[in-house]
Amino acid sequence: KAGVITLDPGFKNTGSCESAITFLDGEKGILRYRGYSIEELAEKADFLEVVFLLIFGELPSKDELGKFKDDIKAQSEVNLDMKKVIKGFPSTAHPMGMLSSLTSALIAFNPKSVNVDSEEDMYKAMVKILAKFPTLAAWTLRRRNDQPLENRDNNLGYVESLLKMMFQKPGEEYKLNDKLVAALDRLLILHADHEQNCSTSTVRIVGSSQAGLFASISAGVSALWGPLHGGANQAVIEMLEEIKADGGDTSKFIAKAKDKEDPFRLMGFGHRVYKNFDPRAKIIKKAADEVLAELGVEDPILDIAKSLEKAALEDEYFVERKLYPNVDFYSGIIYRAMGIPTEMFTVMFAVGRLPGWIAQWREMRLGKEPIGRPRQVYIGEGLRGFKEIDNR
Ligand code: SDX
Repeated sequence: KAGVITLDPGFKNTGSCESAITFLDGEKGILRYRGYSIEELAEKADFLEVVFLLIFGELPSKDELGKFKDDIKAQSEVNLDMKKVIKGFPSTAHPMGMLSSLTSALIAFNPKSVNVDSEEDMYKAMVKILAKFPTLAAWTLRRRNDQPLENRDNNLGYVESLLKMMFQKPGEEYKLNDKLVAALDRLLILHADHEQNCSTSTVRIVGSSQAGLFASISAGVSALWGPLHGGANQAVIEMLEEIKADGGDTSKFIAKAKDKEDPFRLMGFGHRVYKNFDPRAKIIKKAADEVLAELGVEDPILDIAKSLEKAALEDEYFVERKLYPNVDFYSGIIYRAMGIPTEMFTVMFAVGRLPGWIAQWREMRLGKEPIGRPRQVYIGEGLRGFKEIDNR
């Protein structure tokens, strides 16, 4: 098996794990889902095929994919009482905060999906969250725009219905743009799994207490929100906007990113595992040129991103630390061109990452893994006696 490493037996309940889902080689910049290269999947598969592959380990046959799509459509209805939950948020609430809460609120409307043991019940719970999550994601945008909340149009595919729920204006016909659908489908594939990253480890460790799939996914959404993780795609655009407003001078930002006093990081750069180009960043960078050209969008931010990348890759601070663009560096530029607001970028990351979280939760539950219990090295005080308050 490629890249097999041996871990000491004690690792089992520390939050680290063995997994057969995604393989990364950080030095070589390799990413594979169930043995298939990300390059081939991004080019030849569609998102629901990749969802099936990640969860069940094999690419689906035509019949299997057809049944999977039907099962998802059959569960896509979100109980309209959930509208009361989202209407409790101010329209200024960050979509990721709403999405995490809505995902948790789903439990109340699907009590049988809370803690499941049989493969049959796991399948039902997985299909339910796959079916309802895109609607909740779209509702967070509609809540911010004070637009009516509807359920998905089951005459459309998974990605098509997500775009329609996000962008349909009340009383207007929503015209699907195939290029937009194809671009989003590919972005969702590129975000679908990434072995034991922060949010996936969160899903696995919450799931290991048998809190249930929906609670684990809700925790994963919260972990993904942080700007050091999925929230970086929003922070990258905010950084590029700042550089643009500052006259487009990237050298100043490169200098800032190296200043140890300033916690500012070059957002969208660096990675705990990749010490080479993130293969997803390569694909997304190429797609950014193609999608903007196809959509007829001119965005000076793309040129600033490219000059910032060039400046960083020529700077010894970044070169010696092997800091390269990661998945978040160019993805926001495509989302922008698609008309998706910056605050929604990490929600799009979550929609893409959902199948990875589900697949990893299923693997952990089927593997009957013990509750995750990381250990520590104690560096505090030794034993000491209590002091009365008058003597302190
Ligand atoms: C994702 O884990 C995953 O797989 C995540 C992800 C996924 O698909 O799930 O790939 C998605 O989260 C991508 C990362 C998105 N985050 C960002 O783009 C935020 C900016 N990046 C950094 O915060 C940082 O690179 C991290 C958080 C991604 C990684 O942090 P590490 O592992 O602590 O970085 P490191 O140990 O490799 O750092 C080595 C050195 C340090 O300097 P020295 O102490 O050696 O002097 O490089 C420096 C770091 O300070 N460094 C940076 C930097 N990233 C690392 N300096 C400036 N800018 C940066 N972006």
